[in-house]
Amino acid sequence: MLSKVYSAGLFGIDGFIVSVEVDGQPRLPQFELVGLPDAAVKEAKERVKTACENSGYPFPEAAFLINLAPAYRRKEGSGFDAAILTGIMSVSGLIRRDVTLSDKCFVGELSLSGDFRGVRGVLSMCVAARDAGMKEFFVPWENAAEAAAVEGILVYGVKNMRQLVDHLNGRAVLSPMPRKEISFTARAPYEEDFADVKGQHLAKRAMEIAAAGGHNILLIGPPGTGKSMLAKRLPSILPPLTFEEAIETTKVHSVSGMLTEGTSLLSRRPFRSPHHTMSAVSLIGGGANPLPGEVSLAHNGVLFLDEMPEFPKQITDALRQPIEDETVTITRANGRVTFPCSFMMVAAMNPCRCGYFGDPSGRCTCKIEDVKKYISRISGPMLDRIDIQIELPPLSYEELAARDDNTVCETSETVRNRVCAARSYAAERMAKIAGGADQVKNGRGKTIHCNAQLDAAGIRKYCVATDEANLLLRSAYTSLGLSARGYSRILRVARTIADMAQSELIREEHIAEAIQLRNLDRKYWS
Ligand SMILES: Nc1ncnc2c1ncn2[C@@H]1O[C@H](COP(=O)(O)OP(=O)(O)OP(=O)(O)O)[C@@H](O)[C@H]1O
Ligand SMILES: [Mg+2]
Repeated sequence: MLSKVYSAGLFGIDGFIVSVEVDGQPRLPQFELVGLPDAAVKEAKERVKTACENSGYPFPEAAFLINLAPAYRRKEGSGFDAAILTGIMSVSGLIRRDVTLSDKCFVGELSLSGDFRGVRGVLSMCVAARDAGMKEFFVPWENAAEAAAVEGILVYGVKNMRQLVDHLNGRAVLSPMPRKEISFTARAPYEEDFADVKGQHLAKRAMEIAAAGGHNILLIGPPGTGKSMLAKRLPSILPPLTFEEAIETTKVHSVSGMLTEGTSLLSRRPFRSPHHTMSAVSLIGGGANPLPGEVSLAHNGVLFLDEMPEFPKQITDALRQPIEDETVTITRANGRVTFPCSFMMVAAMNPCRCGYFGDPSGRCTCKIEDVKKYISRISGPMLDRIDIQIELPPLSYEELAARDDNTVCETSETVRNRVCAARSYAAERMAKIAGGADQVKNGRGKTIHCNAQLDAAGIRKYCVATDEANLLLRSAYTSLGLSARGYSRILRVARTIADMAQSELIREEHIAEAIQLRNLDRKYWS
């Protein structure tokens, strides 16, 4: 007797359909699993058997051969238990033979007591099932909200195998999980608000410009001036996630097993703050069964590198390629896995080891050579990938003691609205020049979403400046000793400042402000 049931596996952040063929022959009891299963899949045998018995179903006495197809893809994890169980129950007649299984997909791990346990990557699997034309998706109860974010397929959250069998046999029918409508335009509920940060008007303005153009930013200043505070609040001034971005970001988190029970789609931009002692694999991604790293967990959000000079050189070097490509590709014997990683990077640092170099109080105890050595730990290529650098001076007493209400400082919402306006202005402007929104691409054919993504050709095309602005840039180029890269960065940032002012051309004042956001190069790195 043969039965075919569907399940789903993971490859990178995408799901793929796995067909589970169960053949049961009335011979001496046997249980064999083929089709490139990993150790966790092989252990399904023990879990399924014991779960059956503990749920009050005698495990059928037969020789079972189970084949997971396609055979060329490695099957990982314990999520195939549900499908294997369903196949066995169907072959043995414990699930009625007339129940249609071909339009259903089963994912979930069994505990020995017969309860279903959540697995990672359910969102991606549910998308794959829907795309393969499946009508119903069965998942452990704790993953149901996540799967229900997918439109066009009915999702059933199942607590234990008895529930599943009773539902399929029509004895106690479950209701599908209601699809939660998530409003992505609604105010994103961030706990930390820009209004908490007092003073630091220049730094706040720089953060706003960074958010409007998607520019990476470096904050330098003595301890306790609000660098970490500002960085943490960056997601709250970025435009709300779009539905597509939310799906992609949630997929990455789901595949990493980081979604909490009951989470449907992530509606906030992620903020990841890896410690400088972290390994390259945890940062970039990898492992025998490749998992996304911090850079991918920050996809569509913010990657914060606090105390940047403390990061070992091999780690910051490893970051360069993901920043450039916005994807990470991990090659393994059984194929290449690609994870997305499009993020804004915020780096923070003290200007020296004691933290007080340049502080008006004169309390810095570092020798100038040591300061230079400390600063030079940020390599040139890394610095090249950071469009904006800004210094945070110590707060005055008046600033710190200012009243604690929003009349003193702008809220994240106010700033975010301006950021959104600048981004839509930029999108329209670029679409006008390119001849359609779908034509706004860089040299490598990738769509440009913000000014930070402009390459040399993009800068020539989209960063058109007035004659006065060009003159100012020319004189800055020579007097400040800018490099070619410094020149491009100033133009990109000036383009963003012009977008914030809804100006089609880059004007003198926009160039002047952009130069201000770069002049630490000379102070610290010349
Ligand atoms: N601009 C500010 N407005 C309000 N509070 C501030 C500000 N700056 C610092 N603080 C207070 O100081 C604390 C430390 O700030 P934060 O962690 O942002 O400093 P930092 O610049 O990151 O310092 P470090 O260099 O030590 O990491 C905050 O929790 C806050 O209470
Ligand atoms: Mg800090």
